[in-house]
Amino acid sequence: MLQKYDTANDDIRYSVNGKLFRRTEPGISPFDSVVQGGDAVWEGLRLYEGRIFRLTEHLNRLRNSAKALAFAEIPSDDTIIAAIREVLVANQMFDGVHIRLTLTRGVKVTSGMDPRLNRSGPTLIVLPEFKPPVYDKSGLKLATASVRRPGPDVMDPKIHHNNLINSIMAKIEATLAGADDAVMLDSRGFVAETNATHLFLVSGGILRTPRAIACPEGITREAVLQIADSLGLPAIVEDLSLVDFYRADEVFCTGTMGELAPVVAIDSRLIGTGRSGPVTLRLSEAFAARVAVEGTVVVTRDMSEQASS
Ligand SMILES: Cc1ncc(COP(=O)(O)O)c(C=O)c1O
Repeated sequence: MLQKYDTANDDIRYSVNGKLFRRTEPGISPFDSVVQGGDAVWEGLRLYEGRIFRLTEHLNRLRNSAKALAFAEIPSDDTIIAAIREVLVANQMFDGVHIRLTLTRGVKVTSGMDPRLNRSGPTLIVLPEFKPPVYDKSGLKLATASVRRPGPDVMDPKIHHNNLINSIMAKIEATLAGADDAVMLDSRGFVAETNATHLFLVSGGILRTPRAIACPEGITREAVLQIADSLGLPAIVEDLSLVDFYRADEVFCTGTMGELAPVVAIDSRLIGTGRSGPVTLRLSEAFAARVAVEGTVVVTRDMSEQASS
């Protein structure tokens, strides 16, 4: 699945430390830590009718990731939310928006990886785009990549960092295999996640998902587990092998960028009937109902309309 360019984003603004730029204008220094070493943490957020779903959880994950990377300074939640609001208003954005929020270690005094070369505080980048959930709801095909997902022994995925090369290598393999995304295994051979989303399976009416040891502590994943609980659907978090997925009744993936999306084939094995299954549908509907009412209000319709007048 290849995302398409959306002309609605022709003239969008993004912000760097509170300063607004057009998408065609450069706003990041080549001395910035994200350019020098991918030394940054990030969150993908989704705006529904002026509300960001699970904003507190996203900001906690960003803060905890930056703390683990020993950033000298981390902006307050209020500062981050004000920066998000400003750029959404400038873009007259209210709904159907995905926000890429990045916090880098900041600009270095000279090229190099040493954090002691950072002397001017972090860089906060807010990049919103008009972007409905990206995955095709008719179902994804996955292929298992040879590249493994690291666990805490190599690079703990509890840090949601910007070194995405591991994912990009897996994505290249999946594309070459004619699949939409890659299944990634952990160092022991158990399923970790895809290159960009978490994986769930349904078997015998039970929802199962891998432990969060070689995948991030997913916010959509957590929401799905909570929804399952509220629906009385039994759920187990455990080590799962590829064979568990091959023989499942249903498989779906989760993430802020694409919400819940059915997986209909893995490594050319048809999953269940090869179509989205009833549990996936039920959970997707319950998720849609939650995002329609939950979330932190960041902008109102009035604010985005006023910006246009
Ligand atoms: C590697 C990876 N897996 C899964 C996800 C989905 O997580 P979430 O539901 O928190 O968006 C992300 C999101 O950023 C990710 O980077």
